Amino acid sequence: MRSSPTISAMPDRQTTAPRVPRHLAIIMDGNGRWAKQRQRPRTVGHRAGARAVNLCIDFCLNRGIETLTLFAFSSENWQRPKDEVGALLTLFLRALEREVDELHRRGVRLRFIGERERFPDAMRQRMREAEHLTRDNATLNLCIAAGYGGRSDIVQAMRKLAALVAAGELSVDDITAERINDALCLAGLPDPDLFIRTGGDQRISNFLLWQLAYTELWFTPVLWPDVDAALLSGALADFAARERRFGLTSEQIAQGTTP
Ligand code: FPP
Repeated sequence: MRSSPTISAMPDRQTTAPRVPRHLAIIMDGNGRWAKQRQRPRTVGHRAGARAVNLCIDFCLNRGIETLTLFAFSSENWQRPKDEVGALLTLFLRALEREVDELHRRGVRLRFIGERERFPDAMRQRMREAEHLTRDNATLNLCIAAGYGGRSDIVQAMRKLAALVAAGELSVDDITAERINDALCLAGLPDPDLFIRTGGDQRISNFLLWQLAYTELWFTPVLWPDVDAALLSGALADFAARERRFGLTSEQIAQGTTP
């Protein structure tokens, strides 16, 4: 059984060049305000947001980013007005129907994270099919957080581990950071290196609470549908100039000490 209580339990920490994030996580905020600025319904903003999703995927493929995690729909978003939730679900379903074959052709592996129970059967079916079809792809991991909440993710991980302990299959001492990581929905993927939130708010909003521990945070007032490659390049350039210390000192990092 593995035991590594230190931060080195988290794999592949990147403190030196090359400084392209391996894993980019994004809160795509501002669709509603983008529509409001144009006196259009919020759903028009979400449709424009879907176009920005395609642009962002192209960007990641061009830049060699290995994993992109997009916050598409939070567990709290179920409480939005019924017609907006319905429009978002239709948009997701149409996007799945339209884009999956092309994403597969480009080597994208799809993973959906979040609680699926509340999604309609047709959508859950499409999610399963898309994950199955693309399971051997390796160009880009595209994780879509839908019905996702960071706290629920941690709760389900704790329940899994507690059940193993109760069954006598895991000892309490074997509960390590790595073990918890493996029970979370992004198991097997490195933590995000860079987090972007558009739309001006500077908070995490229950997104990847565990995995963002050492992630570089980058905020912009630009609304999600207005995002373009220049803005994403700017975020990457900012990221590349940062020193990531993971709790070490600058001197240790310069000497090549690994976290
Ligand atoms: C937040 O903006 C955005 C959402 C709740 C939905 C995100 C959905 C998309 C980007 C479209 C499609 C996505 C996929 C994966 C196909 P908001 O509505 O909270 O905007 P506001 O803060 O301006 O009101």
